[in-house]
Amino acid sequence: MNRYLASSLLALCITPAFAWQGKVEVSTPNTTMLLQANEGEDLRMAYYGAKVSNPWQVSDAGDDLGFSAMPAFGTVDMIHLPALQIQHANGDINLELIVANVETRDEADARVTVITMKDKLHPVTVRLCYKAYTTVDVIETWTEIAHKEKRAVTLKRFDSGQLTLRRGNVWLTHMHGNWAAEAVPTQEPLTPGLKVIRNTDGARNAHCDAPEIMLSLDGKPQERNGRTIGAVLCWSGNYEMRINTADAKTHHLYAGIDPQSSEYVLEPGETFATPHLALSYSDMGMGGVSRNFHYWARHEGMLHNGTGVRDMLLNSWEGIYFDITEKKIIDMMDDIKSMGGELFVMDDGWFGDKYPRNNDSTSLGDWVVDKNKLPGGIEALCKAAKERGLKFGIWLEPEAANTKSEFYEKHPDWVLQTQGRELKLGRGGTQLVLDMTNPKVQDFVFNIVDEMLTKYPEIAYIKWDANASIQNCGSKYLASNKQQNMYVDYHRGLVKVMQRIRAKYPDVVIQDCASGGGRANYGLLPYFDEFWTSDNNDALQRVYIQWGTSYFFPSNAMAQHIAGSPYHMTGRVMPIKFRCDVAMSGRLGMELQPRNMTDEERAQCTTAITDYKAMRQTIQLGNLYRLVSPYDREGYASLMYVDDARQNAVLFAYKMENFINMTMPRLQLDGLDASATYVIHERNVKHGDKASSLDGKTFTGDFLMQVGVEMPLDGDYASRVFEITKQ
Ligand code: GLA
Repeated sequence: MNRYLASSLLALCITPAFAWQGKVEVSTPNTTMLLQANEGEDLRMAYYGAKVSNPWQVSDAGDDLGFSAMPAFGTVDMIHLPALQIQHANGDINLELIVANVETRDEADARVTVITMKDKLHPVTVRLCYKAYTTVDVIETWTEIAHKEKRAVTLKRFDSGQLTLRRGNVWLTHMHGNWAAEAVPTQEPLTPGLKVIRNTDGARNAHCDAPEIMLSLDGKPQERNGRTIGAVLCWSGNYEMRINTADAKTHHLYAGIDPQSSEYVLEPGETFATPHLALSYSDMGMGGVSRNFHYWARHEGMLHNGTGVRDMLLNSWEGIYFDITEKKIIDMMDDIKSMGGELFVMDDGWFGDKYPRNNDSTSLGDWVVDKNKLPGGIEALCKAAKERGLKFGIWLEPEAANTKSEFYEKHPDWVLQTQGRELKLGRGGTQLVLDMTNPKVQDFVFNIVDEMLTKYPEIAYIKWDANASIQNCGSKYLASNKQQNMYVDYHRGLVKVMQRIRAKYPDVVIQDCASGGGRANYGLLPYFDEFWTSDNNDALQRVYIQWGTSYFFPSNAMAQHIAGSPYHMTGRVMPIKFRCDVAMSGRLGMELQPRNMTDEERAQCTTAITDYKAMRQTIQLGNLYRLVSPYDREGYASLMYVDDARQNAVLFAYKMENFINMTMPRLQLDGLDASATYVIHERNVKHGDKASSLDGKTFTGDFLMQVGVEMPLDGDYASRVFEITKQ
């Protein structure tokens, strides 16, 4: 069950405090975390890694049973860093946490361990929670802080968790990128000192640096081997991940909400629960950790447990941008239907009455149809879609307004702003971010979706965009002594709205978009079905962007669209088959003007869509094996999906460079049943060409994985898709 929906059931199954006798073991099927929790003493983290028969031998192995699991300012020694700091009502900035109690509770697929700690002096309680899954090697950890001081306290730092690692040849992989160039894996050894990865956009957090990392414990990161830890902060706002190497024995990972400008004022009786930090360990390299996170996402971390296959769609944006008319939209419906699509999504540009949305400088906030562009309204479009046997979807940007909008004229108080300062304006020179801390604004945002779905129950899909950073760091709603709560309360407000929407509309597919992949994060995925991977649809660059994104996110969350050629951002000209094959490795869509396609392009897309639909169960819900990384500069890249039963697999291979006499290593497959026999069929064969010589051949699983096959990739942008089926 999705972890956020499950929380209401938790109270039912708490087991009374058990005799933990100082030793706490938090275990998943193949991993263990050991915590030394002696009553009245600091909580120590003793071990995290592979499950072994008697892990507590660690205390005889020359170890000092670790470092504080939640080092607090006032207790932690001066060379290490605190994960927690509170300024008490009397101004004291110290905290000395001692273990008071340990409880466990069982959920359907997890055991939650809650370690309650108290400050030695002030009435402050810190509960450190560990949720260990019984079905997958993932442990979620988070911190709950409460107090009964006379007045509010200030949380000056409040990490979700801290992880102590034995110092060694440990390498960090983190995703660094930018708009239209998201998720570039960046790898470096940990060296003495502090490495900080953070994002302070305010509203989105996955452009530039993303809140997911891996730590490879056996030297340079490897895809298929090596002890590897993954850490994912489930939060959509500002965050900070710190890796500190301050002594000869340890590295420390700290992860949480970025405290700069977010020191949180907490009233007596309130509980501050941090976002969850999901940890995974695998000795099968980065691939093993990715598969753990994907499984966890598909069963816990995404809406509907990530089950169910997604429809193939056409989105109007890059085809017609703001130039929407009823005729163009209905023509696009006809076109996508004729190629085998199932859903049509009308993007930006359909709304605005007093201020029609003809460019990005007006109308956000005015969610009424532009009758000049769409005289028949949304009704006519829903009807047209239905008549064609298509589903219909629509674009919204509910958390934003333009200064040029009827909304802003009526509610200037409802946008984030600083008292007495001029507004800083975003996209289009006029865009502002709504004040999601304000319950009235939360109602407004909920009502945008509620009214839309009540009026037009046929709407099956919403693209929820967020195209602005928080630049005006203040709220008219929050009291003057709570202004710094804004960054956190913004995201809590957003989540409250999403929970209301999901309670009423659990089945509408909602895409999480933020100028491309700005919100690809596990803070929001429990409420969304997928995210927009990037605004950059250049197929060559998409191989890289999708590769990086796949380290942490499953393919059914990754929206991937076939675009026009030459591609408008890069000017690159790419064959339609390459564009199709790259988009087919995730949730397939299309984003171009079909009327500009050649007959050859239409025919190839029709084949791609037909073949994709037949294989999408495996592509969207299978286990990912990354075979050859585009970052390895071998000249080609390859990945494959294998279903749980190892019955069906789909293999993708892309030519990234093309030189005479270039070396093309044999491709060794992965994830198959070694003793089974598989038959290979080529799919989406290039029109006008014959299938490759591999088509129709049978091989044993061990041959495919150990010996491998030659990849028939000749020429610029050559690509192949093979379906591999157990006989
Ligand atoms: C953002 C999205 C795009 C598109 C535009 C519309 O940039 O990422 O896909 O929806 O907004 O304005």
